[in-house]
Amino acid sequence: MTAAGGRLRVGVLVSGRGSNLQALLEASTRADYPAQVVVVISDRERAAALDRARAAGVEALFVNPKDFVDREAFDLALVRELTARRVGLVCSAGFMRILSPAFTRAFAGRAINIHPSLLPAFPGLHAQRQALDHGVKVAGATVHFLDDGAVDSGPIILQASVPVQPDDTEDTLSARILAEEHRLYPEAVRLFAEGRLAVVGRRVVVRGQR
Ligand code: GAR
Repeated sequence: MTAAGGRLRVGVLVSGRGSNLQALLEASTRADYPAQVVVVISDRERAAALDRARAAGVEALFVNPKDFVDREAFDLALVRELTARRVGLVCSAGFMRILSPAFTRAFAGRAINIHPSLLPAFPGLHAQRQALDHGVKVAGATVHFLDDGAVDSGPIILQASVPVQPDDTEDTLSARILAEEHRLYPEAVRLFAEGRLAVVGRRVVVRGQR
């Protein structure tokens, strides 16, 4: 679904700092960018990401998981809020909850996530620490479609790699990966908005990629 001016309407799910949200908000300000963040929803009332949304003049919504009997009821509330705002793409950006099939089915093919590893390596929490513990030489970030499989599964849209340095800590590696995330996420949203992503089995084909 597109906003006035033909731009794709994007809803972003957050839980914390919101630096990936910020990258999407900044991309939205460019006149030639084909997508626009129209609502930001957090499961945490004090998430810094909500302040970033407000500062950008974007609707910021806190949906309290404690107001719902179970995960599915909470997820259906998210679906209602997003649908009411005619969101055409949902971006999970540091949203630290597992979305149930109630959500992923409602937004099948229209919900994506960013994760700080080269999936399928190191899904779940503390991906950067997992990479260091494993002693890998290359780490990175992945943007993928959400499906109702395991955590951080779903067809991969874009990936970027970074080297792991011998003296890396979780913080230094996370910062190097994050810089790639901030480049990758707006690019994936742009490709989606331009209708250039086709899912063929488990593969995402990017049309017109040089
Ligand atoms: C990012 O590194 C994102 O990839 C990660 O949380 C961080 C959120 O940072 N997400 C996951 O680990 C999801 N499994 P941000 O709030 O500054 O965007």
